[in-house]
Amino acid sequence: MRQDESASSQEDPVISPAFPSDFAWGAATSAYQVEGAATEDGRGESIWDRFSHTPGAVADGGTGDVATDHYHRYREDVALLAELGLNAYRFSIAWPRVIPTGDSGVNAAGLDFYDRLVDELLARGIAPHATLYHWDLPQPLEDAGGWPVRQTADAFAAYADVVARRLGDRLASIATHNEPFITADHGYRQGNHAPGRRDPRAALAASHHLLVSHGLALQAIRAAAPDLPAGIVLNLEPTPPASGHPLDVEAANLAHQRVNRWFLDPLVGAGYPPDMADAWEWDRSEIRAGDAELIAGRMDFLGVNYYARNVARSPLLPSLPPAPDRETTGLGWEVYPQGLREVLDFVVSRTADLPLYVMENGAAYPDDPADPSRDPQRVSYLRRHLEVAAKAIADGLPLRGYFAWSLLDNFEWALGYGPRFGIVHVDYATGRRTPRDSARFLAEVARTGSVPPERT
Ligand code: FCB
Repeated sequence: MRQDESASSQEDPVISPAFPSDFAWGAATSAYQVEGAATEDGRGESIWDRFSHTPGAVADGGTGDVATDHYHRYREDVALLAELGLNAYRFSIAWPRVIPTGDSGVNAAGLDFYDRLVDELLARGIAPHATLYHWDLPQPLEDAGGWPVRQTADAFAAYADVVARRLGDRLASIATHNEPFITADHGYRQGNHAPGRRDPRAALAASHHLLVSHGLALQAIRAAAPDLPAGIVLNLEPTPPASGHPLDVEAANLAHQRVNRWFLDPLVGAGYPPDMADAWEWDRSEIRAGDAELIAGRMDFLGVNYYARNVARSPLLPSLPPAPDRETTGLGWEVYPQGLREVLDFVVSRTADLPLYVMENGAAYPDDPADPSRDPQRVSYLRRHLEVAAKAIADGLPLRGYFAWSLLDNFEWALGYGPRFGIVHVDYATGRRTPRDSARFLAEVARTGSVPPERT
């Protein structure tokens, strides 16, 4: 070592808390957003097929018919994960591929696809983390009432059983739902996601049945694959008040109950947050005896998806201009890395030492047209969130893994193909994958177990 280097490292040590060597480092995708092959090998119609083909529903008229063609290119995508040195992959299973009608008859070819994917991952030393439901309900189940009816929860448990029997011996973890808040709120209240219903009462019923379905699916998974770690993935966000005005404080409290507590509290046995239930004038008629215990069944981990903070402003007060120093992503979402710590602390207040995974974190930015593999803003976003994650671990929080959203550019729901979240760029005309700098950056953190100092 040269003299000047050792001198500078003594004066200026790199403070970078290390990640444990068994930390899960991965990237995430979901079936409808990447698979394509929408009508192949017996796959049934999902609510997202129906919705995306409805004129005006998706910003650019995009659909998941082809998406990134992951169904055919999965080997290449797994090879990419391996080249990057990531040791984990989070993907979702398309229910309509496995049970095309939703509630009867297993499509062997559909199940075989996930079997091949899991084996390919394992052959490359990559741990498969599966999610059973990332928003693609079989359309026949929606036609029969969708999540607002309880039979959908029973059908979900039967689907969970089929998957756990077939893949349960090889998966590293299984999550029942991805972001049930979004399923109920966007799908049934706001209607900007499939199935596009705008019915607040139906959204409440859906939220309860999503939780019931989680509890039933946990039981099915336990019976079929007792050693498989099982949990759920929630979207969480800090909701601070925009000002000290009592109306803003009230709005912030309600937003916190609506987004963060509505699902987590029942899952830990604390029941639905009462102020929010009252604000919705919910008669609770869907709740049956035993549901509270069913929903609060033992979990092995909780997945956290974190993107941004959402400052709460009362609708009764005039809107405020955004703070001048507010940094945002290409989608206008606030960049607020400390919020990751805030949501982890909130979760730990309810789950204590339950293992936690960041199952999604990432950002969409417009590409540099000259070179879409250069993404300094995404690197900076990941760097700052990973620094917060490292600090959380150093402080003793039970964080066990981090998955960037997303492995690939993909179909971003109602926003279509415009927003690009991938750490790997996808040329939609050719399907060509090109790792971005952010993929190399994540690979370096995974390889070294620490966040490298910023190079200027
Ligand atoms: C999350 C979703 C994921 C993706 C990201 C940007 O809410 O789980 O599918 O759309 O947002």
